[in-house]
Amino acid sequence: MGCSQCVGLEHETQKWAQQDLAQYRRGKQGRTTRLLIQALLDLGVGGQTLLDIGGGIGAIQLELLQGGAAAATSVEISTAYLDAAQQEAARKRLTDRITWLHGDFVALAEDVPAADIVTLDRVVCCYPDYEALIQKSTAKAGKFYALVFPKDWWIIRQALQLMNWIFKAQKSLYVAYVHPVAEIDRLIRTSGFVPAYQRSTLGWHVWVYRRG
Ligand SMILES: C[S@@+](CC[C@H](N)C(=O)[O-])C[C@H]1O[C@@H](n2cnc3c(N)ncnc32)[C@H](O)[C@@H]1O
Repeated sequence: MGCSQCVGLEHETQKWAQQDLAQYRRGKQGRTTRLLIQALLDLGVGGQTLLDIGGGIGAIQLELLQGGAAAATSVEISTAYLDAAQQEAARKRLTDRITWLHGDFVALAEDVPAADIVTLDRVVCCYPDYEALIQKSTAKAGKFYALVFPKDWWIIRQALQLMNWIFKAQKSLYVAYVHPVAEIDRLIRTSGFVPAYQRSTLGWHVWVYRRG
């Protein structure tokens, strides 16, 4: 993995992956992930295929498959997260319905199969070139495009700046980004989608779009 953000993610996620997996096994899940999963279940996932980009421990894959989705593809940069996701899928006996691809989705996009549903849960904020990420991922979505990403309020920018200073002080190459919300929305709509569900928490937008 060549890019500095990929190296940063690989390093940071060594810590995050086992913590997230332990929390998930205790039944604890981030509120925004729960909202995204519930929104998709309500919109209907029966028989649909899923492409989950940056899926971490794979909560979305597991819960949509258990909710009736047919099959999932996961594209993940982090080997630690891939490993945790594979452990949990095996525990839930869902391994044969998930295809795992290791790497940067933007670099791999040409070889990634399209799906009915594409999800990016807290991924846009981990990637510098959000335009390429959104353009290449919307192109893969047949019906629904669902994402969780941070609000672009000044206070959130300040908080992330502080967090980035701490990462830098620790010599980490990882950087968190707040990308412009209006531009994210414009890119998704330009790719042929209209909003199907929009919720926001204090810091995050949870948005699902439907192909128009
Ligand atoms: C903050 S974590 C979120 C994990 C999970 N989606 C969640 O919400 O718990 C961001 C994840 O996105 C992955 N990621 C970021 N950019 C990516 C890209 N371009 N291709 C594949 N994975 C990516 C990272 O490796 C990391 O696992």
